[in-house]
Amino acid sequence: MRRSGHIVREVLDHVRAIVKPGASTMDLERAAEQKMKELGATPAFKGYYDYPCVLCTSINEEIVHGIPSEKRVLEAGQIVSIDCGVVVDGYYGDAAITVPVNGALAPELKKLLEVTEASLYRGIGQALIGNAVGDVGAAVQEFVEANGFSVVREFVGHGIGTKLHEEPQVPNYGARGRGTRLREGMVLAIEPMVNFGEPGTRVLDDKWTAVTADGSFSAHFEHCVAVTRDGPVILTQ
Ligand code: MF3
Ligand code: CO
Repeated sequence: MRRSGHIVREVLDHVRAIVKPGASTMDLERAAEQKMKELGATPAFKGYYDYPCVLCTSINEEIVHGIPSEKRVLEAGQIVSIDCGVVVDGYYGDAAITVPVNGALAPELKKLLEVTEASLYRGIGQALIGNAVGDVGAAVQEFVEANGFSVVREFVGHGIGTKLHEEPQVPNYGARGRGTRLREGMVLAIEPMVNFGEPGTRVLDDKWTAVTADGSFSAHFEHCVAVTRDGPVILTQ
């Protein structure tokens, strides 16, 4: 899983470098597909429940599962979440980043990205043997809400291994001490989805793209994290 995790990170780094005004989300998709081929990895998302692409690219108020398209051309001031999964020798890796389309991002959006990424690390810090899944979710939720943003309820993180989605579900909310106990060797995909405004969501007519109900912007960061005797180990570093 370290190998699939490293490849996911390489693909994300490669795609991040071509995010700029005028690039379409299909340009990102093609770059990712090419890179996966080069690295000998199989895309994890393409064909999963008929999902058509190797990336999810979600712009502004899109939370997750945006479908790359020639028609979606990035503009200055936007934010785009790039979510990527691969499988290598039967083991899955899954990670996401949200990046500004140009440097000059509105300060409140900069804060949204910073808080979302920091909330991921709060969650990772709870991925400890003997803790509960609720400890991860509570750590994410408390940090996000203390900063004035909200966490999405309808989409959650997950166990990951020889399948993309395994038990347990890993919500970005919860109560400390509640839920499945974490054991040595479990790997969790922790993936806070954080809305600037209200937490509500809806899914567009394409049946995939999840957007905020209030139209506010949303950010998403994800890592795969192994629960070990030495503490949490980030596999998608
Ligand atoms: N990172 C997302 C997840 O864990 C991406 C899945 S997209 C899908 O659910 F197409 F594969 F469903
Ligand atoms: Co995931």
